[in-house]
Amino acid sequence: MSIQIPRGTQDILPGEVEKWQLIEEAARKLCEKFQYREIRTPIFEHTELFLRGVGDTTDIVQKEMYTFQDRGGRDLTLRPEGTAATVRSFVEKKMFGDAQQPVKLYYMGPMFRYERPQAGRYRQFVQFGIEALGSADPAIDAEVISLAMSLYKDLGLEKLKLVINSLGDKESRSAHRQALIEHFEPRIEEFCGDCQGRLEKNPMRILDCKKDSDHELIKSAPSILDYLSEESSSYFEKVKQYLTMLDIPFEVDQNLVRGLDYYNHTAFEIMSNAEGFGAITTLCGGGRYNGLVEEIGGPETPGIGFALSIERLLAALDAEKVELPLTRGIDCYVAALGDEAKDYTVGLLGKLRKAGFSAERDYLNRKIKAQFKAADRLNAKYVAVLGDDELSGNKINLKSLADGEQIEIQLDEFIEKFTELCK
Ligand code: HAM
Repeated sequence: MSIQIPRGTQDILPGEVEKWQLIEEAARKLCEKFQYREIRTPIFEHTELFLRGVGDTTDIVQKEMYTFQDRGGRDLTLRPEGTAATVRSFVEKKMFGDAQQPVKLYYMGPMFRYERPQAGRYRQFVQFGIEALGSADPAIDAEVISLAMSLYKDLGLEKLKLVINSLGDKESRSAHRQALIEHFEPRIEEFCGDCQGRLEKNPMRILDCKKDSDHELIKSAPSILDYLSEESSSYFEKVKQYLTMLDIPFEVDQNLVRGLDYYNHTAFEIMSNAEGFGAITTLCGGGRYNGLVEEIGGPETPGIGFALSIERLLAALDAEKVELPLTRGIDCYVAALGDEAKDYTVGLLGKLRKAGFSAERDYLNRKIKAQFKAADRLNAKYVAVLGDDELSGNKINLKSLADGEQIEIQLDEFIEKFTELCK
């Protein structure tokens, strides 16, 4: 049997890859505008990083990591997300001492989770994410959310819903935690095994359960918003105020808890409302993680960020039928007739490319008609046609495929004239 691609992964072929490039380019440009700079961390890290960083009660750590031992017996894991590694690097490279604060970083690259593959859920997927480390100003929470929204809007998405919540500080969370335990404990046997395990370890995650989401006790569960300390509450008010100032509509969902352990204060998700998008509607998730830097061995440093996958972004574009403005084409196809002319075009193609043009020629010894077809398929602006006769007469014909107009150019002046024409 022939070898097939692993489950939950995909090949991105020419034709599709241009969309990826356009999105990546848009994300980079946006980061430049917002002054986030790229960080590239390894694809694998010590497993310990994710146990501590992502949290050992999370689904990611308990069920979804690609963990292996290398030949030296080290425990390593393919990164399931980008925040832990970014923070690891922030601590290890002592970026907390940089003159420029807060430290604003972005990353783009493959992440790995052993999940059950379905529409919008892959085992290898590409995340674009940003992290702002070193500021506890609610204005940066609004900035982070606004960057994510801008990317979607710039690419043409309209059916978006931003959902925010506050998970409060330690004090608020532990009061809420106690209330949740008291709320669920008497009837916990009505919940799934996962939830029963969560009751003591992380009762907030019960609110996030996919299996029990319709249970009446989830709907009537005590809201974190009623347990926020005064400080957390006024922090959340500020975030909302700034979002309004930035013209970003939002909804507050007190059951939004997020699937990773490191969050506090602001948590948010951006969903697609588009019809036919499918069951998994979350496009982007993020939040504040004050405390994570210390957890990973650094000094007390607040942080906030988000990540989104390009796969789900593309699915949302599809669902909204947004066509990305892809402009594919080449400047010049060099067609040749006769052996000497063919030889000559090798040098001519080189000169065109050196002068900065995209150019192509035939490598299959095709007839002139087939060469024109190839030029058409490549969406060439011009076809330069050279036969043995033209070559000996120091001439070349140039045809514009846009209007069919044809001109004769002196061969030794071709690059110069072509450059003028393309200006
Ligand atoms: P997350 O919610 O686990 O958060 O993932 C963020 C986004 O990654 C999701 O909203 C979704 O777009 C995408 N994603 C996750 N799993 C898959 C999958 N299996 N297939 C396709 N796309 C997927 C984090 O990863 C946090 N590190 C976000 C963050 C950054 N928080 C603060 N800073």
